[in-house]
Amino acid sequence: MASLRDIRATFLDYFGKNEHEVVASSPLVPQDDPTLLFVNAGMVQFKNVFTGKETRDIPRAVTSQKCVRAGGKHNDLDNVGYTARHHTFFEMLGNFSFGDYFKERAIHHAWEMVTGEFALPKDKLLVTVYSEDDEARQLWKKIAGLSDDRIIGISTSDNFWSMGDTGPCGPCSEIFFDHGDSIWGGPPGSPDEDGDRFIEIWNLVFMQYEQRSKEERIDLPKPSIDTGMGLERIAAILQGKHNNYDIDLFANLIRAGEDVLGVKAEGDALGSHRVIADHLRSTCFLMADGVTPSNEGRGYVLRRIMRRAMRHAHLLGATEPVMWKLVPALEAEMGDAYPELGRARALLEDTLKVEEANFQRTLGRGLGLLDEATAKLGEGDSLPGETAFKLYDTYGFPLDLTQDALRPRGIDVDVDGFDAEMSKQKERSKGGSLSSVVAPDEVWFAVREKLQPTEFLGYAGTTGEGKLNAIVSEGAEAKAIGESQTGELIFDRTPFYGESGGQAGDTGLITFENGAIFRVEDTQKRAGDLHAHVGVMEKGEVTLGDTAQYAVDAGKRTETKSNHSATHLLHAALRDVLGAHVTQKGSYVGPDRLRFDFSHNGAVTAEEMTKIETQVNAVIRQNAAVSTREMAPEAAIEAGAMALFGEKYGDTVRVLSMGRGLAGDEKAYSVELCGGTHVERTGDIALFKIIGESSVSAGVRRIEGLTGEAARLYMEEQMSFGRSAAEALKIPAADLPARVAAMQGERKTLERQLAEAKKQLAMGGGGGAAPTGPEDVNGTKFIGRVVEGVGGRDLRGLVDEAKSSMGSGIAVFIGVNDGKAALAVGVSDDLASTFSSVDLVRAGSAAVGGKGGGGRPDFAQAGGPDGSKAEAALAAIKSVIAG
Ligand code: ALA
Repeated sequence: MASLRDIRATFLDYFGKNEHEVVASSPLVPQDDPTLLFVNAGMVQFKNVFTGKETRDIPRAVTSQKCVRAGGKHNDLDNVGYTARHHTFFEMLGNFSFGDYFKERAIHHAWEMVTGEFALPKDKLLVTVYSEDDEARQLWKKIAGLSDDRIIGISTSDNFWSMGDTGPCGPCSEIFFDHGDSIWGGPPGSPDEDGDRFIEIWNLVFMQYEQRSKEERIDLPKPSIDTGMGLERIAAILQGKHNNYDIDLFANLIRAGEDVLGVKAEGDALGSHRVIADHLRSTCFLMADGVTPSNEGRGYVLRRIMRRAMRHAHLLGATEPVMWKLVPALEAEMGDAYPELGRARALLEDTLKVEEANFQRTLGRGLGLLDEATAKLGEGDSLPGETAFKLYDTYGFPLDLTQDALRPRGIDVDVDGFDAEMSKQKERSKGGSLSSVVAPDEVWFAVREKLQPTEFLGYAGTTGEGKLNAIVSEGAEAKAIGESQTGELIFDRTPFYGESGGQAGDTGLITFENGAIFRVEDTQKRAGDLHAHVGVMEKGEVTLGDTAQYAVDAGKRTETKSNHSATHLLHAALRDVLGAHVTQKGSYVGPDRLRFDFSHNGAVTAEEMTKIETQVNAVIRQNAAVSTREMAPEAAIEAGAMALFGEKYGDTVRVLSMGRGLAGDEKAYSVELCGGTHVERTGDIALFKIIGESSVSAGVRRIEGLTGEAARLYMEEQMSFGRSAAEALKIPAADLPARVAAMQGERKTLERQLAEAKKQLAMGGGGGAAPTGPEDVNGTKFIGRVVEGVGGRDLRGLVDEAKSSMGSGIAVFIGVNDGKAALAVGVSDDLASTFSSVDLVRAGSAAVGGKGGGGRPDFAQAGGPDGSKAEAALAAIKSVIAG
């Protein structure tokens, strides 16, 4: 049986042999296309080649492309778990001709591939063509020898493929496989076509047009070919399976799921296992390509998929995070073809663990609410939009999760009601905040279409000259910008660093030939590679085409460089001291300080922190030259570079090496891929100091630090604290710790002595004199005292002591503190039937303006606001005893 791996290889090899360049899959996040959420077909990375905007040396290509169809035009999320062939993530095999061959050779290759390489029986195959495409029909007849009844004309959009609302498109022709009459379904175009018997395996698109907008469709410069075959589908056929989830790859993932969950994939559990296996693939591949879970955009689609899987894990009984435990199984299946999975392994595991633990906190309660809300609903009913929104808002249930949970019971969700609640909330949260005018992505992509990427001059220096190529102000493109207007300027080249990779954008001044001055408050990257100078026209007016002189704030840049280089050293030191599980989770590098977030469980101890700081400073003192090289991404990773997820790497990457191994080896101490600006020699950093270590979220720690003069000033300040303390004590600063310890000991002894003395005093003694004995009140022994400065808490001890000294009698202590009185009354057991402590304390409390009091017959306490009446309270109690 051919494995999925072999099938992928067979396809790539066949077209490779037939003069197609084997091109690697592009990342799942389209890099220069704001119209598309995720790459959803093999042709996406070639979109601009089809339209003629981009030219490549290669006229033909073949790929196995990672695709995600969740959210956006092609959305299969809702079907996963219910059908035999839908996936959120899948691989699309495809061959492409960029204005080279057209229909004839495309059909020839497809036929040779399926009937030759894959050896599918001809009588199991049939094809569709766009009804107007007679040429394709004749070609199928000629090349494949198919009879007319096996070439079905289709007039609907099924046979006209487009990538999205805009982009290249054209008529297509699809190859179908007949799974045999044991399965229900009719051929394409027939009333029963939705059945599962005839399955589309390959779509050949004859790219001829470009859809520019809803109304405008133009011819492509050269007709081209785009094809797509679902790898999982063809694998199912070649492995004799009807369901994609039964192929080797899924069988292995599902087996891993069974092991982790302890539930067999059969009966009701089967669907859940399939959902988990499918969603594991999409979530891991998305994260490995830099998407992180969040509450908007791509990050939210990712979170929705994750949570949908997590609910199914919950259905199978999971009470703690399980998804992360499946990452190694996925890597075993796909890590060889997609090494990014291995590189991202720690990131994938950590993120899944944290996300699932978070969701599990509300999942159970949310499902409880859902059960309650649907208790009286039955098939055909729908859940009110408000409840669905509450589940979303309070319990983190994405809408599709709620729909998925209710689907087996035939209950719908009132989506309009849900949307209405969502709009209301958006309105509420908008209220009050100033809306700043930020240009939407579309504006920037339109600018980018006209311009080249901004050339960055900033590795070499902080000055230079360039030409103004675009202005975006008030959310739209402009031709000029006048005095005191704010906006963003794009030049052909610039030394201003655009915020990226954690490094803050540069600030500074731009002076134009006509004397106008623009103050740059920040520099951002737009549409991937345009450096947008964000700021305000301080003087004069400028128009497109004007030339300018740059002056980046050089002082700040120097500090930023130093902090950035120190961040790399810190990263390497953390991995050395804490272990290789440490991966970067985020960073901020500005002129003022640096911050580095990383995965690690538990706090970094003081001892580890010292080790880390010592290592970083040792490498700083090596004063080794920092080397920068451009190389292919694979070579860089091989050289030990720590890849950052979420960065798109071009053909070459910038690799930064710093310092020498501390064990005396010649290996660089730190190797990282980085587009940031850095010091020339490690010694330029001068000094590194950690100023804080804290927790960011479960499993993620943060270290903050300073370098150079800022670090020195910080240490200076810390030392001044010690110095002033030492001066006050008139001792050398070095004696401080011992002196502080001694003083703490003394203080404890003094406190003990003081408490003892107060007690003595209260008992009427003090200074070693014997306490005065009890008086006699109408035949009852009585000790009553007002004690200054003794708190309510200490009164009980005094009462107990007085009681035991008398044997039989009544003791009353009234403590006066800050003008207020606290009363305690104790009655010995033998008298408890005659006198109640509670009654007595109440009598006293009334005298000091208090209300009530409480306790038991043998001991009671009370208070009152007027401590000056303490003696009167004592007298009141005495008179009660006297009767
Ligand atoms: N781009 C075509 C598809 O996705 C091949 O079906």
